[in-house]
Amino acid sequence: MELRLKREELLRRQNLIGGEWIDAVTGSRYAVTNPATGSVLADVANSGQADARAATDAANYAAKEWKERLPRERAGILRRWHTLILENAEDLATLISLEQGKPMSESRGEVAYGASYVAWFADEATRIYGDIIPQGQRGKQMRAIKEPIGIVAAITPWNFPLAMIARKIAPALAAGCTVVSKPAEDTPLTALALAMLANDAGVPPGVLNMLSASRDQGIEAVGDWLGDARVQKVTFTGSTAVGKYLARESAGTLKKLSLELGGNAPFIVFEDADLEAAVAGLMAAKFRNGGQTCVCPNRIYVQASVYQKFAELLAARVSALKVAPASDPLSQIGPLINAKAMEKVARHVDDARRKGASTLVGGMHLVDLGANYYAPTVLTDVTNDMLVTCEETFGPVAPLYRFETEEEVIALANDTPFGLAAYFYTQDMRRADRVSRRLEAGVVGLNEGAVASEAAPFGGIKESGYGREGSKYGLDDYLTIKYICQGSLD
Ligand code: SIN
Repeated sequence: MELRLKREELLRRQNLIGGEWIDAVTGSRYAVTNPATGSVLADVANSGQADARAATDAANYAAKEWKERLPRERAGILRRWHTLILENAEDLATLISLEQGKPMSESRGEVAYGASYVAWFADEATRIYGDIIPQGQRGKQMRAIKEPIGIVAAITPWNFPLAMIARKIAPALAAGCTVVSKPAEDTPLTALALAMLANDAGVPPGVLNMLSASRDQGIEAVGDWLGDARVQKVTFTGSTAVGKYLARESAGTLKKLSLELGGNAPFIVFEDADLEAAVAGLMAAKFRNGGQTCVCPNRIYVQASVYQKFAELLAARVSALKVAPASDPLSQIGPLINAKAMEKVARHVDDARRKGASTLVGGMHLVDLGANYYAPTVLTDVTNDMLVTCEETFGPVAPLYRFETEEEVIALANDTPFGLAAYFYTQDMRRADRVSRRLEAGVVGLNEGAVASEAAPFGGIKESGYGREGSKYGLDDYLTIKYICQGSLD
């Protein structure tokens, strides 16, 4: 697949700061590669502390004017941005597939998914209500109004190069915040194209600033934001380890944080489930993006009486998956993002086999396709002492565990420090209600594998983080409440 865009200028290699496309202060650059082939797609600015500081200066300069815009004006700009994203959908999908590796069909889906957050928050911008507080004392009126929190640092992952950044920037802009942003080092091209479209849509200079950086330089750039008191909020999607680092480092200036971190999602199939539906739900949830999502089921618990049947149905579907580069229109699973991801998936599968699991499907590196391809895999007879149980594999591996009772499986499902997503399948309505309440997760899929939506609150509990993205709740993370007490009214 070649880097050929209908609108060539969407390939940006510089930072967007204060409305200008500029190189890193040091002139340093790094290469962005295609995980399918290892070939270099483009080189981009390798930004550091000075660039981060310039971005914050620009965001600070633009803050007052943007905050004072009518919500309707901000909504109008977001709507234009939404239109431009859809008009350029094919180019954006091409960039996603090239730098991230997912099949074009999924990249097109991601563009629509990301755009839906922009449309949603364009509408929400006009619904930021406050309250007049009904009780109080005579001669006084008490009001609560909502104000933008200030400058937001948005730090985003590589697995959804467009959707994750859209669902952070759109609510920030809707709320009246200005933004400094750094996409993942592996996937800056989509994010920079998205920033260009925001510029074209009329986002004023300095309101959205974006810089690219390699891993080491990125730590330096983000470190500057964490220590800068002008940055009031950090929103991050990524690993729990990095989330904890961000929380620690921003404690000095007491920033508000939204952290959407790692998961270890259980997927439970009760014996009364519609097994065909459960397999379909698992396929959608587990193999989306080659298993590289935070809400991918990581542990699949199947009740003993239906274990064999479920495993057979699943094996038939997984063996039929087409693994191929994004350039193949029939591709359903692309490469993993990099060598580190390959090493982790192989280590998890090898560890499970060594400790007694059997490989029903897959379980190998697809060397003929390239360095980063791992076969979609189903493991059976998986037990709790294996790495796949306690670590997020982040790859196309479905480990199946056997359980006997509801009590037992709820205890197993909740026996993790994480709490992002959980799924279960049952046709017993009382069990549906009971298990929904007992699962410790921010998001529960009940007879459903595709849970994400711009209209729904997305986020975790425990070490999966805090804050919610999307939905009517998603704007609150970018707002503060000001209480105004007005006296001398009598
Ligand atoms: C994620 O993997 O972090 C997000 C997945 C989604 O939005 O569905």
